[in-house]
Amino acid sequence: MKFFLDTADLNDIRELADVGLVHGVTTKPSIIAKSGVDFKTRIAEICKVVAGPVSAEVTAPDYDTMRREADVLCAIADNVTIKAPMTFDGLKLCRTLVDQGRMVNVTLCFSSAQALLAASAGATFVSPFVGRLDDIGEVGNDLLIDIRHIYDQDPDIETLILASSLRQVPQVIDAARAGADVATVPPAVLRQMIGHPLTDKGLAAFTADWAKTGQSIL
Ligand code: E4P
Repeated sequence: MKFFLDTADLNDIRELADVGLVHGVTTKPSIIAKSGVDFKTRIAEICKVVAGPVSAEVTAPDYDTMRREADVLCAIADNVTIKAPMTFDGLKLCRTLVDQGRMVNVTLCFSSAQALLAASAGATFVSPFVGRLDDIGEVGNDLLIDIRHIYDQDPDIETLILASSLRQVPQVIDAARAGADVATVPPAVLRQMIGHPLTDKGLAAFTADWAKTGQSIL
């Protein structure tokens, strides 16, 4: 499973991408609103740091306006991936853009039926929102398991499952177990995955023992 970073924070993106931990970025209108940055400028900046897919979401509800928005966003960089909502107009946009050779991420997917249609429309990625299903008492990971199973029945489906709305490390591990192709995670969650109390404890013990040797590697 690959990792995308679910953020528009350039410092986080730079630091984590430099280590090769990040293969792409997802943004959403809420992230842009929170950061207060200019959307198009920030997408351009992110695309210079990350060579992989960078999701930028169209915001209009209708196909014609979405398409004009997508044209503007696509002009920013080749790795801009248009995030289209899981609506009829969004699927229509998906088909148009994929036929033009663009990458499309069909977002706000909450059912296997929606994931099937996203694949039919040729989506590069489908984004099932695990955490938001958990929020309403459903089991978000079951959706990932189901979509994986369904997609695996049809060798013609090339759509990648992009597990989204992951807010905790166990959700990420469950997504990997479910066979998600990619997980998009907030920087804090990716950083949490690095650490373990026993790693810290072991390191402290090794450091103390090393000091006892009186040696220096340098
Ligand atoms: C990513 O593409 C999604 O927009 C994001 O993961 C949604 O996360 P949220 O449910 O925490 O807003």
